[in-house]
Amino acid sequence: MQDIRRIFAERLGQDAPTIVSQAPGRVNLIGEHTDYNNGFVLPMAIDRWTEVAVSPRDDQTVRAYSSVFDEFVTFEMPPDAPPRSGGWRDYVVGVVTMLARRGSLGNGFDLAIGGDVPLGGGLSSSAALEVSLALALVQMYGIEMSDVALVQLCQEAEHAFVGTHCGIMDQYVALMARKGTALLLDVAALDHRYVPLALDGVTLLTVDSGVRRSLAQSAYNVRRQECQDAVRWLQAALAEPTIRSLRDVREEDLKRVQHAMPTVLHRRAWHVVTENARVLQAVDALEDHDAARFGALLSASHRSLRDAYEVSVPELDFLVSWGEDHEGLGARLIGGGFGGATLHVVPAQEADAYAEGITRAYAAAWNQEATVARYRPGPGAKQLLSRGGG
Ligand code: GLA
Repeated sequence: MQDIRRIFAERLGQDAPTIVSQAPGRVNLIGEHTDYNNGFVLPMAIDRWTEVAVSPRDDQTVRAYSSVFDEFVTFEMPPDAPPRSGGWRDYVVGVVTMLARRGSLGNGFDLAIGGDVPLGGGLSSSAALEVSLALALVQMYGIEMSDVALVQLCQEAEHAFVGTHCGIMDQYVALMARKGTALLLDVAALDHRYVPLALDGVTLLTVDSGVRRSLAQSAYNVRRQECQDAVRWLQAALAEPTIRSLRDVREEDLKRVQHAMPTVLHRRAWHVVTENARVLQAVDALEDHDAARFGALLSASHRSLRDAYEVSVPELDFLVSWGEDHEGLGARLIGGGFGGATLHVVPAQEADAYAEGITRAYAAAWNQEATVARYRPGPGAKQLLSRGGG
């Protein structure tokens, strides 16, 4: 990874930044599309980072440079909520605007963005950018804010300025992760605990399919709406106004209403309710060091995402099936779906052959390259440098 301080000095013509911070990407082990239903998720941060370097200016201008896109963006403070650009500018404007809404920020700043979180591969490079930037600006402007408030601010920035009505998982784990562990997040309680990731003799591999779907954002928002519709339907049908989200729905109740409930809504609810249960079972499996059970839960999650939640694509199904037909203990798509990567639980001694085999098979079947990676569970966001900020 290129040194962000050097990028800052070269591109923004200043000697050194005042503040440097970084936030990681993530792999979600299990618990997909459960976060915006008040459920459970089990992500881990990865050892790949988005880094930002900032220095205050003595005028109202914000000058930002992204080394990933080799592109500059400039705007004046306070930002005037410009139309969405569809690019990285939206994240910067979003975080700055959300901070400015809490109180006047004052002058602008110079900003350099860099890092090595792969983009568009379902590893949440966007949350890593939001969180690293928010962390730096909170420090620079001397804003007092709790960790959870910072996470929520980043999520709101994404809703309002990027247009994805994402849950809170990605921003939460980017800030709160701890090295060597996965993070079990209970979204209803907004509370978490760490689950050691010590599966002896097993390797976790991700395989990026290379499929990037522009459809993903609108389909995501549609799923979210369907879940809300399912809640409303179930509240009426079960005459239980205490049901506030799919988190409050029992599997046996869903079975009972299956034939009356609109099929699509039933499928979505079924995925979410059973996925929540799988997350807790996966935590047990990890704590029992039971890699086979953990892997089987991942595969069950994939089937549910494919058949009930309908967010998979044939390329991802291919990667998962290939793993199940070979030495894998289980696999599933990770992230929102419609492209991106799959996660595979593989016996450690088979990992190299597995990586080679799956890339070869994928290239032959889809005439496209799949990229295998092995990420380690890393720590959450941190400040790397702070010289007299605040
Ligand atoms: C995206 C969102 C998350 C979560 C996942 C699906 O990554 O940003 O909040 O909803 O999709 O589990």
